[in-house]
Amino acid sequence: MIQMLKRPRRNRKSEVIRSLVQETRLDPKDFVAPFFLTEGINIISPITSIPGQFHLSCNTVSQKIEELLELGISSYIFFPLIAAKYKDKTGSYAISESNHLLKTIRRIKENYPEICIFADIALDPFTTHGHDGLLSSSGEVLNDETIVALSKMSQHYAEAGVDVIAPSDMMDGRIKYIRRALDQAGHENVSIMSYSAKYASAFYGPFRDALKSTPSLGDKKSYQMNPANSKEALLEALLDEEEGADFLMVKPATLYLDIIQKIKEKSLLPIAAYHVSGEYAMLKAAAQNKWLDFDKALYESLIGIKRAGADIIISYGAKEIITYLLKHS
Ligand code: PBG
Repeated sequence: MIQMLKRPRRNRKSEVIRSLVQETRLDPKDFVAPFFLTEGINIISPITSIPGQFHLSCNTVSQKIEELLELGISSYIFFPLIAAKYKDKTGSYAISESNHLLKTIRRIKENYPEICIFADIALDPFTTHGHDGLLSSSGEVLNDETIVALSKMSQHYAEAGVDVIAPSDMMDGRIKYIRRALDQAGHENVSIMSYSAKYASAFYGPFRDALKSTPSLGDKKSYQMNPANSKEALLEALLDEEEGADFLMVKPATLYLDIIQKIKEKSLLPIAAYHVSGEYAMLKAAAQNKWLDFDKALYESLIGIKRAGADIIISYGAKEIITYLLKHS
């Protein structure tokens, strides 16, 4: 035996010791589970590009919420699947009284007043062109006109019972403008989670497929961030904090752990990270080919996000990871 003062392996010698010295843990209360909502009744329609996720109608989402509540997951973010017949250039269905998502939110909030509902605020599910904002005649995404539209949309969603408004559009000045609009409408207790550092990422592909919202022209690089940049993420996050955001979010998550860590160091606000559709779907695809153990790879992805500094994780795998952890605790 060689004499050694320090043997870090001693802290890894048994399951109990490994667990005692574990620095980060995942908890059901860390998670926000996404749902894709469609019009109709009794719909549970699998989304092929995001295996394990479904388009759900109002009654079937209630069943899913009950399963998650059982596991201690009580926060959800809602995205609408909008039929082509309701889409137009300005996304007017977003604030229409017949918007099925608004109806579902009202019903769900009545039935489950204790849950926390987040709603994504952007125009892309509602527009024929698939951009998050309004377009000029030359196809440019208009900033100031868009934030006016998004603040109206936020007021409608707050009215329907949303607890946290989550603008995902990356327009300048939107947090301040939406905060003011919510306050003016008497929704001063409705929170804002800003998608602060949202990158122009290839990993949103399965989500756009699920919502049929792939831009019909151009890309989103004039508003979503360049993956090569990190100082810019801090600038965006600190502006959102100043403008009145209650949470800051980084998206995608696993390739942007440095960004999560930097924003966590510089801001006093809770930091959320969105483990996006592509990050989830690629684990599923590899697992279907038996190249990866899905649960273990999902665990490693999510614990990495938490270790980097995320307080809140939005993940399609929320239910799977908590079920897995319960089985192995
Ligand atoms: C809409 C929005 C997108 C996502 C969340 N909100 C797509 C996009 O910006 O094109 C992606 C989420 C995911 O991939 O899971 N603005």
